[in-house]
Amino acid sequence: DSAEKEGFEHFTLKEIFEQPKGVRETLMRRLNSQNEIVLEGVTLTADILKDINKVYIVACGTAYHAGLVGRRAIEMFAKIPVECDVASEFRYRDPFVDEKTLFIAVSQSGETLDTLQSLREAKRKGARILSIVNVVGSSVARESDDLLYTWAGPEIGVASTKAYTTQLIAFYLLALYMGKLNGRLEEHKYFEMIEALKLMPEKITEVLDQSKEIQKLAAAQFNNEKVFFMGRGVDCDIAYEGSLKLKEISYINSFAIAAGELKHGTIALIEDNTFVVAMATQDKLYEKMLSNIKEVKARGAYVFAIAKEGNDQLTKTADEVFFIPTTLDALTPILSVIPTQLLAYYVSALRGNDVDKPRNLAKSVTVE
Ligand code: AGP
Repeated sequence: DSAEKEGFEHFTLKEIFEQPKGVRETLMRRLNSQNEIVLEGVTLTADILKDINKVYIVACGTAYHAGLVGRRAIEMFAKIPVECDVASEFRYRDPFVDEKTLFIAVSQSGETLDTLQSLREAKRKGARILSIVNVVGSSVARESDDLLYTWAGPEIGVASTKAYTTQLIAFYLLALYMGKLNGRLEEHKYFEMIEALKLMPEKITEVLDQSKEIQKLAAAQFNNEKVFFMGRGVDCDIAYEGSLKLKEISYINSFAIAAGELKHGTIALIEDNTFVVAMATQDKLYEKMLSNIKEVKARGAYVFAIAKEGNDQLTKTADEVFFIPTTLDALTPILSVIPTQLLAYYVSALRGNDVDKPRNLAKSVTVE
């Protein structure tokens, strides 16, 4: 067991630190020397794509949160409308699925029952099935028309970390691939994205090199029972994921909201020393986030912001700021999620929890 952890105290921490490798594998195996995307298990052609007028992304938990980012990427680059649903809801709401639907299942294990049953339901209705899966030969993988493996390697910790970042890479690749195939993505945007994606493993390492900062923050906040995550745009998707990670391994009752929703109820809960994690990486939403941060600060919150390098103004507004390296705004999730994973990990370890096997949870949920 300790040999497998390679010097890390827990698998979860080891897996967080394996992300540069997982991301590199998932990406570089799909790019040829001309920077073209080659998706081995995907047989989607321009002709098939022409007839697709809607995409459904369906998954559970962290995989669903990857789907939220995937939805933005597909709409942005392939310009096809996308809906994203949790599998346990999708199955029971009689969704508008037909032969013109592309159904995307996302699953680390490939065995999550609700995801698998949703896939079967979509298939019955005539949809084309594409899956983003980590475990080779799993049920979801076997029942799909198109398959995009994440090359995260085995994930042992119940909290999904490296599977999530590799799912994001799979979505970016797919969105760019589809955008090129249907001609809705301009060439210069495509190459700009590819170049930026190729820098990701290095940039993730830069973030991991600052893990001591998060460790210090965790030491100061691990007993705080009131935690909120907030963000706008794609930062909102990361707020959801950061909050899930924290609650599942620390047992803190944390939750996430779209920052613009604060005034519609949640701000009533903010009081002295409420710990707020504010995701503020998006240029066009930056000013709006600054004012949300001021709103919670004015009610006594302690604000930890996550922003891109160069946004120094935040250091005057938030109590603490973690800077991620600069990149295209569409790609910040790959970097901004990492401090939230580290925070969840260190808080959980400081509380003396069983980090790799949190109570009441299983690695893959094969019952309804
Ligand atoms: C992630 O930290 C969770 N343990 C959980 O939400 C997980 O992502 C979910 O159960 C989906 O699992 P899957 O990816 O294997 O389908």
